[in-house]
Amino acid sequence: MDTATHPLAERITATMKVPVSVAVVLGSGIKALEDLVNGGSCHYAELPGFPTATVAGHAGVLSWGQLGEGGPGVMVARGRFHLYEGHGLGEALMLVNLFKDLGVPNVVLTNAAGGLRADWQPGDLMLIDDHLAFQGSQGGLPVPLPGGLDAEWGPYHAREAYDGEWRERLAAHCLKAGVPLRRGVYVGLMGPSYETMGENRYLITAGADAVGMSTVPEAARAASGGMKVLGVSCVTNISITPSGAAETSHQEVVDVAKAASANMEAVLRGAIATAP
Ligand code: HPA
Repeated sequence: MDTATHPLAERITATMKVPVSVAVVLGSGIKALEDLVNGGSCHYAELPGFPTATVAGHAGVLSWGQLGEGGPGVMVARGRFHLYEGHGLGEALMLVNLFKDLGVPNVVLTNAAGGLRADWQPGDLMLIDDHLAFQGSQGGLPVPLPGGLDAEWGPYHAREAYDGEWRERLAAHCLKAGVPLRRGVYVGLMGPSYETMGENRYLITAGADAVGMSTVPEAARAASGGMKVLGVSCVTNISITPSGAAETSHQEVVDVAKAASANMEAVLRGAIATAP
């Protein structure tokens, strides 16, 4: 789509004098980037073709603005559409498609995830180095996409979806700034139930460090569209401890994600500062 003709493009340029350089998707309960200036916002339901976000902890609001006067332009999507809600891949990819239509070059995907490492703590943040696409026939696989692939999109690929140089810059930035950031492999499952202990053991053997129900198709789609992608998980529960997966409630996930929001804010500001 021609960026200039997108109905949202006019609203964005009306309030903000710089282009959006980074779009951020905030997962369950994650609060961050709430003090943008020269910005605006709209509900997903106002966007053509968008359903309303339904999961608790997901506001369903898209906002844009600058990170301080003279700062970079950012766009923040609070909430996403999950396959476990009954949405298809078309809905799950709507935000990424919108970023592409608006010509946004860089995307940060955040999520809440269960930790598969016994020595990690709830509230830890994990930079996603790679992912496992375990969402049935949809997540990350070269399925025919709704509407097909047009010339603007490259082949649908998941390999090295997360930009290597941006990851290293962010890791170095966080180290220098004293912001704790773990790194690992994220596995995306269909959900909606949390994993059994047997499944956790299987996922660890498969090479995963954190488990969740989103992000994988979005990362693959964004990378295919030429966007630079980062992924950051908020580990809200340690899935493999005795009080782990089976007893994890969505409310607990949302509460821990909220509590970890100060660190997430620091990581996201670091990601924006180090964006390509
Ligand atoms: N499993 C899957 N998804 C999750 C979890 C979990 O333990 N915690 C937060 N999102």
